[in-house]
Amino acid sequence: MMNWTELNEQAKAWIKEAGENIKRSFNKTLVIQTKTNANDLVTDIDKGTEQFFIKKIKAKYPHHKILGEEGFGDDVDNMNGIVWIIDPIDGTTNFIHQQRNFAISIGIYEDGIGKIGLIYDVVHNELYHSLKGNGVYLNDLQLLPLAEVAVSEAIIGMNATWVTKNKRIDPSILSPLVSDARGTRSYGSAALEMAYIAAGRLDAYITLRLAPWDIAAGIIIVEELGGVATNLRGEPLNLLEKNTIFISKPGLHKEILAKYLKNGKW
Ligand code: IPD
Ligand code: CA
Ligand code: CA
Ligand code: CA
Repeated sequence: MMNWTELNEQAKAWIKEAGENIKRSFNKTLVIQTKTNANDLVTDIDKGTEQFFIKKIKAKYPHHKILGEEGFGDDVDNMNGIVWIIDPIDGTTNFIHQQRNFAISIGIYEDGIGKIGLIYDVVHNELYHSLKGNGVYLNDLQLLPLAEVAVSEAIIGMNATWVTKNKRIDPSILSPLVSDARGTRSYGSAALEMAYIAAGRLDAYITLRLAPWDIAAGIIIVEELGGVATNLRGEPLNLLEKNTIFISKPGLHKEILAKYLKNGKW
């Protein structure tokens, strides 16, 4: 039987240690490479951080499976058993350009059920953590269940890409939502944007395509506080493929789905 409290403590200790290693890299020259296109970047620190976790996990929990963005983990094609889903640096562009506004994101699942969610904002030393059924904490502070808010009073996390000409969505679908909301923000780290919903800094987050490692921890954290995590059709998210993403406080989720997202073809 897995001791989840102990696993949670271990994962928290490793994420802190990885954060210290990342901070130490700030005065070194980064090795930057491109992946699928000129703006899709990866650094030696992204890769080194993923390898750090894999080495630790494989040594202590050899039967656990690991799905990591940079590909050093296992070929995970099902969610059976215990699966760690790791984004070593979420917000690599911010990491390279700003040395802030990025996070380490780790979701741990058992047979497809989210058990532990960790999002670590390294530079601000803010660790969002949740062990399923035990609430969500920002460092030592327990976060409150998410309260209701109307669109007119909501701050929505969204990238300007989705209301300008792009290949995934007609800009006229989301522009009424941008007009009706109190405001929009774009932080450049999906994991942080989900953590901010938990902390009450954002009310919803919408984006058109994310990978499992971007959302694995955030789903656990937001749902633990009563938030709703679906695709843009309002359906459950699939952790083995890319999804459209709509994460929100509960009542707001219904309102946005019914008034705005129903007009989209996703
Ligand atoms: C990216 C960030 C960004 C989102 C991108 C992701 P990465 O992750 O979460 O906010 O808009 O779609 O790929 O590559 O920096 O880990
Ligand atoms: Ca990336
Ligand atoms: Ca990411
Ligand atoms: Ca990443």
